[in-house]
Amino acid sequence: MSFTITGTGSYLPGKVVTNDDLTAFLDTSDEWISTRTGIRARHVAAQETVTDMAVAAARAALEDSGSTPEQVDLILCATLAGEYITPSLGCMVQKELGAHCPAYDLNAACSGFLYALDAAAGYFARGRVKKVLVICAEAMTRLMDWTDRSTCVLFGDGAAAAVLEPGEDLLSIHLSAAGNNDALCIPHVNGNCPYSGYDRGPASLMMNGQEVYKFAVSAMSKGVEKVAEEAGISLEDIALVVPHQANMRILEAARKKLGMPAEKIASNIDQCGNTSAASLPILLDQLSRQGRLKKGDLLALTAFGGGLTTGACILRWAKEKK
Ligand code: UT7
Repeated sequence: MSFTITGTGSYLPGKVVTNDDLTAFLDTSDEWISTRTGIRARHVAAQETVTDMAVAAARAALEDSGSTPEQVDLILCATLAGEYITPSLGCMVQKELGAHCPAYDLNAACSGFLYALDAAAGYFARGRVKKVLVICAEAMTRLMDWTDRSTCVLFGDGAAAAVLEPGEDLLSIHLSAAGNNDALCIPHVNGNCPYSGYDRGPASLMMNGQEVYKFAVSAMSKGVEKVAEEAGISLEDIALVVPHQANMRILEAARKKLGMPAEKIASNIDQCGNTSAASLPILLDQLSRQGRLKKGDLLALTAFGGGLTTGACILRWAKEKK
């Protein structure tokens, strides 16, 4: 027993910041950002909290699946950071929704949705749950150094959610982690403990872009190959690859390695940038609502991110086309 996805939802903040907007205070250009990354604009949570975004996405997913918060047996949030270290984002969402189930967060950076799906599959396998709400929500723009043009142009904010119910639609899943804080890290704040002699540095994202780039291309293509093999399907059987949105060039290089046609790789990076854990499920929800997913389609989900983590799975889409 694994699960089937019965509903999805997403939320993007109202404020849209274009590449041209960034040139007001950064030495950058639309030409550099769009040709190096495929990003043209990103949504910024100017008013919304991470909880607001997570709750909006969760409500949309519950409505899509015809479920109520009272029916949810578990809330699993993948995020780098909610409003608080504690309570967890999961507990904040549970409070706002009026749900009564256990709730917690996990952090696998941009691979968070895949890690959460795998965790949820374990609860279904043990018969512990009938309805799980998986939510990915990130305010990446609050974790950036906005004087660092090599990172702040890449990220955006948003949230997405999925309602999972008993089923057999997770055909295979694979996760990996290779601990590494040189390629990508976001330190915690230093605090003001008078006894601490430890300086973590600034609490904003630092990244070796080229190292992450090389890791990403191979992780994404190998991830899809591995889960396809484990599911006993060929790459031709995959209706659509739904990948983490970090860089259009990464997607293109991974696509070439897989030898798949461009129309089989889904993307929304031009309008959203990289929203970390939220990026893959935001795209999944958009594809579902655009009627681009047919019942029975085999989807390959693939992601990589800080950690360094990776995740990939083959998911059979079970919802009727919208
Ligand atoms: O979810 C996981 C998160 N991370 C990623 O997926 C990131 C993976 N890496 C990448 O996507 C790419 O490495 C980047 C988009 C981050 C950078 O692209 P690149 O082609 O590797 O550029 P680069 O770092 O080699 O920089 C090339 C030049 C440098 O100038 P010089 O030294 O050649 O004069 C940079 O200073 O581009 C400059 N540059 C910029 N110029 C204009 C860096 N950022 C910018 C910018 N605007 N925003």
